[in-house]
Amino acid sequence: MKSEEILNIASKRGFFFPSGEIYGAKSGFWTYGHLGTIMKHKFEDLWRNYFLKLNDNYFEIEDVNILSEDVFKNSGHLKHFHDPLEENGKTENFNLMFGLKVGVKGDEMMYLRPETAQSPYIAFKNEFMALRERLPMGLAIIGKAFRNEINPRQGFFRLREFTQAELQIFFDGNNLDVNFDEIKDYKLRISDKEIKCKDIKEPKFYVYHLAKIQQFYLDLLGIPKEKFRFRKLDNNEKAFYNKVHYDLELKMDTLNGFKEIGGLHYRTDYDMKNHNMSINYDGKKIYPHVLELSFGVDRNIWGLMDIFYKKEKERSLFLFNKKVSPVEVAVFPLVNKDKIPEKAKEIYESVKNEFNCFYDSKGSIGKMYRRMDEIGCNAMITVDHESLKNNDVTLRDRDSMKQIRVKISELKETLNKFLDGVDIKKLGKLI
Ligand code: GAP
Repeated sequence: MKSEEILNIASKRGFFFPSGEIYGAKSGFWTYGHLGTIMKHKFEDLWRNYFLKLNDNYFEIEDVNILSEDVFKNSGHLKHFHDPLEENGKTENFNLMFGLKVGVKGDEMMYLRPETAQSPYIAFKNEFMALRERLPMGLAIIGKAFRNEINPRQGFFRLREFTQAELQIFFDGNNLDVNFDEIKDYKLRISDKEIKCKDIKEPKFYVYHLAKIQQFYLDLLGIPKEKFRFRKLDNNEKAFYNKVHYDLELKMDTLNGFKEIGGLHYRTDYDMKNHNMSINYDGKKIYPHVLELSFGVDRNIWGLMDIFYKKEKERSLFLFNKKVSPVEVAVFPLVNKDKIPEKAKEIYESVKNEFNCFYDSKGSIGKMYRRMDEIGCNAMITVDHESLKNNDVTLRDRDSMKQIRVKISELKETLNKFLDGVDIKKLGKLI
């Protein structure tokens, strides 16, 4: 099954695996291996560079993971953040937060945060002052969240400790200016329809952010459009703090269809009122409203692996683009003799600072190619006898397995073009 195949590669190659397997890993806790960590950082950097650039007054902050009970009393989580749990024929509400007893007597109750969002809310006034009292103001956190999920057995999808990337946009409730003209004719994928932004009956600022989110998935991550959609949640489904709530969903074979990987939440002044965060703004006292862009990083990683996984007769591969692939370039000697490894090492050294690179010389060339295909490495460079005579190498395209010869003096330039998506056929004569 596809899910097992991906989990198997993830574990064998160092993307991720259950944490503490030697002690009988607990479900819902995972370790990122060396490749998964690179991929996760790449996703987080893309997210950061894209969403924080939406406005000059959006910044990232960092907070502790353990917050006091008062935060969650006021946020509503102590009362509302639960799932139904059936025991002895009775259904009870089970609160999903992990509580901690803090202090030498253990008499201070604190909680691992169940969403990063509360951290920017309670830091709002400090940052509002530090950022010269301007709205809109955005505070993002990429950090851990913790939930004592009742049933975390869905592989790498429902975790008990996970990473969220969330941007909280604070604004004067009557006014969040956006450049609507830029997206008014852009078509959003909502459930099974495509609808122009100007025809969607939600506030303009809300629709604008739906468009920006869709563009992030289609244009940056390269998700095929039929695998992405929004879904509007009705009153029974939406989170207790939301007025408008659309989930972002990716279509994953491993999970039998579209599954939530994030959400766009119009939380109104719910949170700022709960935390008693009024400010004087524009000559009046207001509780800022919050628009929240919320993404589960781990779920996005799983989504990318599901969508880009491909099984062929003789190999498995991930069709990652360079923005998310953990290794962009691999360098191999064709054989381990005749000064070929020395030349290959020299080439590796010359490119490793510019690309995410891997050097391998263990096993036959066929096996080395397969191993790199299996982790989604985009470009493979092989050094052979001809390389010593002609100062050139072969460049192999992961997807088509086609190869060209490239002069070493032009290697970096060619790799850059290739990784930007130029077809290998346009970069040289196929061999
Ligand atoms: N601050 C809003 C918030 O936390 P949410 O819908 O509860 O909203 C946001 O969570 C995102 O966090 C989800 O869309 C999902 O991607 C991720 N997430 C939530 N629970 C998760 C879990 N148990 N394991 C992995 N990711 C999870």
